[in-house]
Order: sequence, then C-alpha cells, then structure tokens
Amino acid sequence: MSLVPDKRPVPDIRVSPPGPLSRKILNKQNKIFYPGLTHGLAPFIIKRKYGFAVEDVDGNIYLDLVSASGSVPLGSAHPEITAKAVEALRLYGNEDSHALACELMLPLAEKLIEIAPKSLTRVDISLNGTEAVETAIRFMRRFTGRSVIIGFFGSYHGESGATASLGAEEASISKGLRSITPGFIHVPYPNSYRCPFGPPRARGSGDSTVDYIRDYLLFHAVHPSEIAGVIIEPILGAGGCVTPPDSFWPALVDICNEHDWLLCADEVKTGFGRSGKMFAVEHWGVEPDLMCLGKNLGGGVMPIGAVLGSEKVMGSFDDVSTGSTWSWLPAACAAAIECIEVFQREPILQNVLKLEQAGKRGLSSLPERYEIVGDVRIKGCFMGVEFVKDRRSKERALDFQEEVTRQCFRRGIFGDSSSSSYNIQPSLITPVEVFQRGIQLFEEAIQAASSSSTG
Ligand SMILES: Cc1ncc(COP(=O)(O)O)c(C=O)c1O
Repeated sequence: MSLVPDKRPVPDIRVSPPGPLSRKILNKQNKIFYPGLTHGLAPFIIKRKYGFAVEDVDGNIYLDLVSASGSVPLGSAHPEITAKAVEALRLYGNEDSHALACELMLPLAEKLIEIAPKSLTRVDISLNGTEAVETAIRFMRRFTGRSVIIGFFGSYHGESGATASLGAEEASISKGLRSITPGFIHVPYPNSYRCPFGPPRARGSGDSTVDYIRDYLLFHAVHPSEIAGVIIEPILGAGGCVTPPDSFWPALVDICNEHDWLLCADEVKTGFGRSGKMFAVEHWGVEPDLMCLGKNLGGGVMPIGAVLGSEKVMGSFDDVSTGSTWSWLPAACAAAIECIEVFQREPILQNVLKLEQAGKRGLSSLPERYEIVGDVRIKGCFMGVEFVKDRRSKERALDFQEEVTRQCFRRGIFGDSSSSSYNIQPSLITPVEVFQRGIQLFEEAIQAASSSSTG
C-alpha cells in the first residue's frame, strides 16, 4: 500500500539532501531563528506528509522513522481524526476548559479511564506531555507533603524548568536550571547494557538498581520520608529505547509501598501502542498511582495531554492549580476520542507486533556483523541502535552515528539521531514490507559509514 501519489516507492530520493530548494530555505532560517532551534533540524524542508512518508520541497520521499518525536501513531493527518478535529474547531473554536466544559470532555475522560490500568480513576487536563508531567510533580508533592522526587539518568520529561530538572537525558537540557529547581534526585535507569552496578546483591531487592536506591541513596543521601515518589518512563524513549529488566518492577513497587512513595509512570511517549501494548506498564502488570499522557493521545493531529490518578491521590484535594488556557481545546478532545476509537476498532497493536518482529529479524544480528554496533534494543515500535568505538570500554561512537544519519538521509531514511543512540520509531501503521526496506537501507548506511570512516 502506498499513500504517495504516482505510485512512487517509499523512500525515493531524486536529489541528495539538502536539495537546492531545501538548502535555500534552511540558509534563510539560519539567519532568522534562534540558533538552538536550527542546529538540530533535518537537512530538508517538508512539503507534504503521506501517512508514513514525508515529501520534501525538492521532490524527495523519505520513510518517516521519527513520527514527529513519537507523536503520530496512526500516520500523518489520519483522515477520521482530522475530520473530527476540524468539525470541533468549526463548532467551538477555542474554549478554556477550566472555565466552561464542552460536551467532549466527559466522554474523553471516561474513555481514558476505561483503557487505563485499573488503579486510575481520576483525570486532570493538560496541553501536552510537559504540562502533564508538571502537574504530576505538583500532585505528588501536594499529596505526600514531601518534596523530593526520584528520576532517572537517561530519561526525558520535557523542557520546562521542573520537567527539564526531573529529566536527565543530557546535561545540556537542564543547563542553567539544575541549581534553581531543586527537589529531584537521580539514579541510573535500569539498563542492562550500561548497568554501573554488579548483579543484585544477596538478600537484597532482587534488582541491582533498587538495591542501589536502598543501600546508597537512602543510606547516604536522602531520608525516605523526604521522598514523594518516583517518576519513570516505563521504557526509556528519547534516551535510547531501553526496556528495564523484569526484576526491576516488583522491586520498585515494593520499595514504593514500603515508604509510601507514589509511583508515576510517564507514558507520554510509550502510551498508545508504541511498545506493543496500549500502555507500557501493562507489560509488567504495574498499577501506578499516577500516569502522564501526551503526544499520541492527540492522534498525531492535535496537542493534548492528561494526568490520570488513583482516587486516593487525585480525589483528595482541589487546591493545586493545573493546566493552561489551551489544555483540552475541544478540537483536541475530539481528536483524542477518535484516536482511542481507532485503536479500539483497528488491528493497530497487531501491526506493532509485526513491525517488532521485522525489526528483530533485520536489526538484532547487527552486533554480530558490525564491531561498531554495541547494542540493539527493540520493544514494539521502539528500536534503538547504539554505536561504540570499543566493545569493552563501550565508549560511544557519536561521530559514527552522525555519519550513519547522513548516509540514512541520502537513502531516504528519516530516523531519530538526537540522542546517544539511533532511534527508529515508525508510525504504528507502517506496512511491514516498507519497514523492512527501511531497515535494509539503514544497514546499507552503516556499511557506507564504516567505509568512509576506514578510508
Ligand atoms: C517521556 C516524555 N515525557 C514528556 C515529554 C514532553 O512532552 P511534550 O514535548 O510533548 O510536551 C516527552 C517528549 O518527548 C517525553 O518523551
């Protein structure tokens, strides 16, 4: 199935990016935008998107393996979702949902509770993922009366003061903020490839990360009664598609219960199918106290976020001010309702599992064939490939990753290289054969990058 006109294949590169038109616009953009925005941009300018494909102004077609930072689950401008959003825009324009509820708010909240883990029975509204995490932080502190929140090295939660300080993907994200937004303390994300600890200790929690929290963090640094809880991405998204070992979850839940800490799952990126389940916590049967949603919730059409909470945590006070003017704009509610309905009536999760299998077939053996590939991680449509200069030291080969990225663009592969691994996150509706072709081209890009680095 190709959504691209003239039966053009995906990808289809006619002129090596940046083509002349893209280059002209990129050069002008460099002179007018804040430089921090332009330095991370892909080397082409979009003209149109077709489901899982992107066309640039020079007529190139790319396979989209970024999905707008994992916010477009069902292909770009999904027709039914777009139609519902447009209809709601015509009916309501904007309304501030803190002042006047439109008739779409309640059905959306009910649908979220219907599909969420059973522990979650209350909903608060937000504009996007960042605002959802901000709200969760406030709720955790308000409910417990405690200030410290445990976050994880490698995790990303947004760019606002609090969310950038809760996150610790790269030090540059919280630069200038860390010392003025205290109250967050970090431990290594449970990553079996880069675990700084030995195996779990005898008579410990059964998991080395949680042993570390018990034996080091709580013993040396923070008293457990000062900690409000833990905020965690159930699968590390931007930080490299890392899935914690199964031993982690029961040990984490135990330590939270023992100290009355709240467990908040940041499912902004994992939520709505990307991991192969509607929510990633379902893989381990975890029932969090709070869950943050964003990105995919808007069906790739409108911005929207939400915080879901247990009755105990979110039903017991009303004095925390949350959200903003455009949170749960009626058109965003309409898009989100339709997005959930698409998941309920179409075999989206089945396609995620097919893409996962294709990813495993094409990517899992890369470390056997290329010395420079240190680790490949796959869970649903979260796939990360990490390059290392040396297998034993695991020193990251970020220059090589940049060259792979360039080679990918030349072949029409648009993947996410913004972090310490090359992340592949196709739209969940990508046809398997198109994705397989994309993986072949990704491997060709590794070969080309290897030849250029050897000489
Ligand atoms: C896990 C996670 N939480 C929160 C956010 C912030 O969401 P947004 O940028 O849509 O506000 C992101 C964005 O990438 C994310 O990946």
